[in-house]
Formats: sequence, structure tokens, C-alpha cells
Amino acid sequence: MIISPSVLAADFANLQRDVELLNGSQADYLHIDIMDGIFVPNISFGFPVCQAINKHSNKPLDFHLMIQDADPYLEDCKKAGAEIISVHYEACKHLHRTLQGIKQIGCKAGVAVNPHTSVDLLKDIISDVDVVLLMSVNPGFGGQKFIERTYAKVSETKNLIEQAGSSAIIEIDGGVNIENAPKLKEAGADMLVAGSFVFNSEDPVNTIKDLKSV
Ligand code: DX5
Ligand code: ZN
Repeated sequence: MIISPSVLAADFANLQRDVELLNGSQADYLHIDIMDGIFVPNISFGFPVCQAINKHSNKPLDFHLMIQDADPYLEDCKKAGAEIISVHYEACKHLHRTLQGIKQIGCKAGVAVNPHTSVDLLKDIISDVDVVLLMSVNPGFGGQKFIERTYAKVSETKNLIEQAGSSAIIEIDGGVNIENAPKLKEAGADMLVAGSFVFNSEDPVNTIKDLKSV
């Protein structure tokens, strides 16, 4: 299982400490939640903070852009250490163009879908994406309750990927914990984001290890 702990749940007053803690863990990425206060009812942090995170991190960054019109910010993500950039299906006017733009700058292109968005809508772009990010909570906040419908959505996405002969992976974001992780894996998930479950645990490094080996 690919694990991407969400920095949103870190202690922002001790970011260097928390990022260095994750350097010594089995995490594959750091998940970076960018919120604009328009697409989602919250504002997280911007690119100067991402660059500071990247400076201290030995992990590649997995950007989740919860912003309207991501195109002007793709290069900023790349400069701040992005390996994956995911944009929302609901926030991109010309999604296909945005996904090509992400690939052109040498990053993996992800499409994120809200809980209310059917994965059937991804049929025409599934061959163009490297990652499908399924939101298992409504985007905007950490620490929310996992939406149970996600398991079925993972299976539906897996079918779509197989039918298209696509090599896209499935990333799950929101309310992930050690209880739902094995079920998500069984349904076909490849990558898990976990914020509060990791950072609120007594031993984040060990919690990541547990999630990694589900
Ligand atoms: C929510 C963010 C998530 C969040 C996950 O809008 O996209 O990445 O940080 O946090 P937890 O794991 O606490 O639900
Ligand atoms: Zn996220």
C-alpha cells in the first residue's frame, strides 16, 4: 500500500519537526492540501509554506489542489517538489487540458472526485490520468468521518480502469484509519492518505508502518 500522510494534520508551529519525523517513516509521499476558500470553505496554506516543507522533506510531495482554476499554480507545485498533482473534476473547466499541463511539466496527473460525483463521469479521461483520488469525506477539513459508500466507489473505479486498460492508481482521501484501510485495499485501493489518524496517534511512524502493511 502506498501511504501519503497529510501535512494538514501536522503541528504548523512545528512543521520542520513533523516533516523530519516523517522522513524517518515508511511514508511514500507527503500529501499537501491546498485550499482556496472558494472551491472549499477553508483556506490551508500556500506555496511559500510548501517550499519550506519540501526543503526539510526527503519524500516527494503529493499535491491535492482544492482550488478553482488550478492552471496558473501547476508550475508552483512543481517548484515546491510535486511528484503528483491532483485537480478536482468539479473545479476544472477544461480538465483534459489541465491534466496535459500537469504531464507537460513532468508530474503525475491526478483527478480528484467529491463524494457526490459519480466515477462514471471519468470514462473519457481515465486513460489520461495516473491517479484517481476518491474523496471519502467532503473536501475542506481534516478529521471528518469516513463515508461508507467509498468502498463501492473504489470497485467501480477499478472496473473503469481495467475496462480502459489504464494504469491509473486509486488514492483514497479522508477519514482513513486502520479499520477501513484493509477494506479499502480489498476493494482495490492502491494509495491511502491519512491526516489525523497519523498525527493524532501516539507514534506516527509506527502508525504509518501499520497502514503500509494492511
Ligand atoms: C480534506 C483533505 C484531506 C485531509 C485528510 O479536505 O483533502 O487530505 O487532510 O485528513 P483526515 O485523514 O484527518 O481525514
Ligand atoms: Zn487531501
